[in-house]
Amino acid sequence: MSLKTLILAAGKGTRMKSNLPKVLHKVCGIPMVKKIADICSQIGSEENILILGHKKEEVLKVLGDIEYVEQKEQLGTGHAVIQAKEKLSNFDGTVMILCGDTPLLRKETLESLYKFHKESNAATTILTSIYENPFGYGRIVKQDEKVVGIVEEKEATEEIKAIKEVNAGVYCFEAKSLLEALDKINNNNEKGEYYLTDVIAINVSEDKVVKTFLLEDNDEILGINSKIELEKANCIMRDRINSQHMENGVILIDKNNTYIEESVKIGQDTLIYPGALLQGETSIGENCEILGNTRIIDCQIGNDVRVESSILEESIIESKVTIGPFAHLRPKSHLKEEVHIGNFVEVKKSTLEKGVKAGHLTYLGDATVGEKTNIGAGTITCNYDGKNKFKTSIGKNAFIGSDTMLVAPVNIGDNSLIGAGSVITKDVPENALAVSRSKQVTKFDWRK
Ligand code: UD1
Ligand code: CA
Repeated sequence: MSLKTLILAAGKGTRMKSNLPKVLHKVCGIPMVKKIADICSQIGSEENILILGHKKEEVLKVLGDIEYVEQKEQLGTGHAVIQAKEKLSNFDGTVMILCGDTPLLRKETLESLYKFHKESNAATTILTSIYENPFGYGRIVKQDEKVVGIVEEKEATEEIKAIKEVNAGVYCFEAKSLLEALDKINNNNEKGEYYLTDVIAINVSEDKVVKTFLLEDNDEILGINSKIELEKANCIMRDRINSQHMENGVILIDKNNTYIEESVKIGQDTLIYPGALLQGETSIGENCEILGNTRIIDCQIGNDVRVESSILEESIIESKVTIGPFAHLRPKSHLKEEVHIGNFVEVKKSTLEKGVKAGHLTYLGDATVGEKTNIGAGTITCNYDGKNKFKTSIGKNAFIGSDTMLVAPVNIGDNSLIGAGSVITKDVPENALAVSRSKQVTKFDWRK
């Protein structure tokens, strides 16, 4: 048994009305064509070939190092496959052809399709499904339950339009009979395109065995041609992902309004409110509470963490940390256990040791803060002189008074205390008090 996969992804996607190539539009965070290419690499295909054309450089940037054939002019799906002729000429196994715009297909479906195709000794097997509203899809035309061809919407008569069994755009072809039939297709149709679907009638006329493999879950074959369909695909994928999390023990208040990308991992009893957006390589532990208007991307989060209305990027957050509302963790931050960062606090490339508190209006950048230190409201590490970045180191059990400017590079010792309103430019040793501000002047009865 030998299998090659071929993904058609050269089209412009006119109906999408977009500058981005259609197949790069994302469904729950993953570009459609990447999703299909990933599945193809998991089903035991010996070679996966992409047909690229429209803005191929952009597609290649997303897919990385892949094998592809260029279709310089997009003259139809049949023409697209013809471009791969050379790659298939000495191959006598099965070619599975897929479209780059059907991101909801499951790996298991492709495996079953291939198995069915092999077991039925067919020359061609078409993946199909039943749609109550089949508009836009190629219709499977049968006589005496045998396939005679596929007719596209544009060429369909009223009678054919009433057929509800549609072409998913996924096929298994025996390579030899595919290549023979491709030589015979033409573009004498409404769109003036070379339709891959015309291969079916040619196969039939040559007495080849053509089968259909009907899929019960018609969501899976949804083809994305417009932004309306893109939204629909996002809803279906979101439902799949969120249902899986709930089955694993995660609590979602409203599964329709919680946005979790496929790559995210979440522990049981973690509670997620509507409006949360969890992205990338994020993992969240157990018993956490993630409130609405929170975006988390590429973060590792421990257990019992609470995040409210905040943005967390590429950071490590250990257990029992509380964040927000309105905090911003920028990349390479590390909050150790029981840290609290509150209202309007921004942390960048800084490590906050266990129990550090920065409750309000603070910027900590390129800093290290020792255990249990309290950072008063309005503290700023002045880490940038317009050219270079400098580090601030604050020891443990220190108390930084409100409205302190720590002009980096600067070191603040353990147990030290900085008076409110200070501008600190020199190191402060441990156990010391440092104050730098003008003395208060009070003039009695001045208002009189
Ligand atoms: C196609 C099928 C239709 C099927 C539907 C399933 C044909 C003629 N029609 O219609 O029967 O029901 O898919 O979703 O095949 N592409 C190229 N080069 C081209 C044209 C298209 O690579 O010259 C690629 C596109 O990038 C896309 C895929 O082929 O990924 C399908 O093309 P599309 O225009 O979306 O076909 P449909 O009209 O949806
Ligand atoms: Ca399509």
